[in-house]
Amino acid sequence: MLRTHELNVKQDVDSLFHPYTPLARQRETGPLVITRGDGVYVEDDQGRRYLEGMSGLWCTALGFSEPRLTEAAARQMNRLPYYQLFGGRANEPSIELSHRLIEKTRHLGMEKAMFANSGSEANDQAVKMIWYYFNAIGKPTKKKLIARERGYHGVTVMSASLTGLPGNHADFDLPIGERVLRTACPSFYHYAQPGETEAAFTNRIVSELEALILREGADTIAAFFAEPLQGAGGVIIPPPGYWAQVQALLREHDILLVADEVITGFGRTGQWFGCDTYQIQPDMMSLAKALSSSYLPISATLVSAKVYAGLTQGSTRNGLFSHGVTYAGHPVCAAVAIETLKIYEERDLVRHVQQIAPHFQQRLQAMTQHPMVHATRGIGLIGAMELVQDKASRRLFDPASGIVARVLSAGLEVGVIYRPLRDTMALCPPLIINSAQIDELFDKLTLALNMALADARHAGLMP
Ligand SMILES: Cc1ncc(COP(=O)(O)O)c(C=O)c1O
Repeated sequence: MLRTHELNVKQDVDSLFHPYTPLARQRETGPLVITRGDGVYVEDDQGRRYLEGMSGLWCTALGFSEPRLTEAAARQMNRLPYYQLFGGRANEPSIELSHRLIEKTRHLGMEKAMFANSGSEANDQAVKMIWYYFNAIGKPTKKKLIARERGYHGVTVMSASLTGLPGNHADFDLPIGERVLRTACPSFYHYAQPGETEAAFTNRIVSELEALILREGADTIAAFFAEPLQGAGGVIIPPPGYWAQVQALLREHDILLVADEVITGFGRTGQWFGCDTYQIQPDMMSLAKALSSSYLPISATLVSAKVYAGLTQGSTRNGLFSHGVTYAGHPVCAAVAIETLKIYEERDLVRHVQQIAPHFQQRLQAMTQHPMVHATRGIGLIGAMELVQDKASRRLFDPASGIVARVLSAGLEVGVIYRPLRDTMALCPPLIINSAQIDELFDKLTLALNMALADARHAGLMP
C-alpha cells in the first residue's frame, strides 16, 4: 500500500506516542512527516522542502544524504550485522572506532572508550563509573554530582536528574535521590545582576559554586557534569574565564569533571571538541549525535587513565566490571561512526566550520535589527536569538499569544526549520552548510519573523 499524507496523519494520531510533544494537541495538529533528505534539506510527505537549520536534533552534521555512510552501513551489515563486547569479545569496527576516538582526544587526557546508544546512556554510565571509581579507590563518601541550571544531559532517570530544566522533572518524580546538587547557569544575558560586569558575574557564580562545595563538603562530592556550552538550555555561551576558574576549583577539591560533548563534539564550535574551544581538561567525556552524524545510534563515554585505573581496581575486586548494554559497540553503528570520522578528516570539516562561521555569526548578529530580536549569541555553527515583545523592558511574549509558536509555524511555511527553547530560537545547521545556504537560512528566518511580527501588530502586541 502506498503511503499518503492522510494515511500518515491518521495512523500517527492513532498509534504513535511522540516524545517531547504536547500529547493532547498532537491529535489536532498531527505530525510533520519527513520522508527524504538531500544535503542540508529535508522534504515532507506533501513534497515541501525545508532547510534543516537544526540538523534534526543538533546532530546530522553531514546533512541528510551522505552516501558513504549508507554504504558503510550496508558493507558492515552484510559482513557481520551484530556481535557484542561482553566478556572480552570484540568486533573490528568498535576496536577501530575506540582507537580513533582516543587518538582524537588523547591531548584532552582520554584513554579508553565505552560505547552505548544515546547521549543519555553515555551520561548515565558515566555516573555509574564515577560511583564505582570512588568506591574502588577508597573514597566511598564521594557520591554527589554537581550539575547546572539549564544543563541538558538527557532523559533517563539519572541523566534527567542531572538535567537542570524544570520540564524534565515535573511529575516524573525527578531528580532522584539526594545526590544531585545544582549550581548556576553561566548565562550573563539571563542572570547578571543590574550593573554587574561579565567578569563580576563570573566571579560571583564561581564563588557560589565554591560555597556549595564547602557547605556540602568536598569529601561528599564526586563530579561536576557540564556541557562546554549549554545547548538545549538555550545555547548558553560561557563567559571568558569561566572555565578556567571552575576547573581550578574542581581540581582543588578532587572533583571529577565530565564534559558532556554530545552537541559540541566533532567541530560544532570550530574546533574538534568544545573542550578544545574552552581549554577544558576533563576526566571523562560524553559523545553522541555527530559521532555518527546520527545516521545510526551510537554514543561513547571516554575516561582518563586515572579513572580507568580506578575502575580496573574495582573490577578486580568484584570479579568483573558488571556494566554494559547489548548494543554497546554495535558493529554497524561503529562502522558508520568510523566513516563519519574519516569524512570529517578528509574534508577537513573543522576548517570548513572555521571558514564559514564568521558569515553565520555575522548574519545571526544582524538579526538584532529585527524589532522582535533583542539579542543573539553563538560560536562556530551554533547560535540563538532572544525573542522579546519589548526590547527596552525585555518583556517576553505571553505564551498564550502564540507569537513565538507563530515564528516556528511561519518558518515551516517559508521552508526553514529551527527550534524554539522557551523564548530563544536555536540554530544549529549541518556542518556541511555553505555560504549561500546560510544566506537562505537567515533570509527565510527574517521572512518568518516578519510574518509573526505582522500577527503581533495585528493583535496590538507591538507598535
Ligand atoms: C548535551 C547533551 N547531552 C545529552 C543529550 C541526550 O542525548 P540523547 O537524546 O541521545 O539521549 C543531549 C541531547 O540533546 C544533549 O544535548
